[in-house]
Formats: sequence, structure tokens, C-alpha cells
Amino acid sequence: MSAKRLPVAALLAAALLAGQTALADDGRALYRQYCAKCHGDEGRGKTWRGWLFRAENLSDRTWQDKRSDAEILHAIDKGPGAMPAYRESLTEEQRATLVQVVRALVHP
Ligand code: HEC
Repeated sequence: MSAKRLPVAALLAAALLAGQTALADDGRALYRQYCAKCHGDEGRGKTWRGWLFRAENLSDRTWQDKRSDAEILHAIDKGPGAMPAYRESLTEEQRATLVQVVRALVHP
């Protein structure tokens, strides 16, 4: 009996996991498409543009600790300094996802 149920549970779990990685992949893809050219794949800002525009090192823990999620979202919306604003070009969901991606860039 339970042997019959197990595969269903396993499938459900697999589907849930796939959903989660899809979200994480989405976020990474968004970051790579819109942000990495200045902030770099790892958020360190060590790119040619990052250097030119003085992009923030997003992996820096001291910087991360000083910023709230709302402030990061605000930066994405408004684009401080030479950074473009994304309020019009990205959906609310995409911008919220990017806040999480930025959080995940923190270097231990
Ligand atoms: C054209 C280059 C460029 C691109 C593209 C870019 N940024 Fe920035 N970003 C900057 C610069 C420059 C700063 C520093 C601005 C300042 O403080 O004067 C910055 C600052 C930030 C900050 C810190 C703001 C603060 O409060 O200190 C965050 C967070 C950030 N960027 C996230 C992102 C995300 C997420 C993306 C992609 C959606 C992105 N950036 C795309 C150049 C860029």
C-alpha cells in the first residue's frame, strides 16, 4: 500500500524542489542579464564598467549588514549614481527576486 504511495510523494517532492531551483535559476539569470556587467558575477564590482562607474561591492558583508532589503529594493528601483533604474523595466516580482539574489552574494 505505502509502496504505491511512495512514488507519488517522491514525485511531489521532486516537483517542489524543481520549482525552488527554477526560482533560484531565474534570479541568477536576471542578475546575469541586468546586473553582472557592472557588479560582476560574484557581486564584487570588479568589472570594467564596475570600475568605471564605481559600482558597489555587493558581496561585502559590512555593506550588506548596513542595508535593509527595502534599501536594496529602493536602489534597484531608482538606480543610485550611474546605475540604471529598473522600476519600469522589471516587474515587482523580478525586483523582489533580485533583492534575494543580492543577499545571496554576501561573502562569508
Ligand atoms: C551601469 C552599471 C550598473 C548596473 C547595470 C547595475 N548597477 Fe548597481 N550600482 C552601480 C553603481 C555605480 C552603484 C553605486 C552607486 C552610488 O552609490 O553612487 C551601484 C549600487 C548598487 C547597489 C547599492 C545601493 C546602496 O544602497 O548602496 C545595489 C543594491 C545594486 N547596485 C544592485 C544592482 C542590481 C540588483 C542590478 C541589476 C538589476 C544592478 N545593480 C545593476 C552600477 C550598476
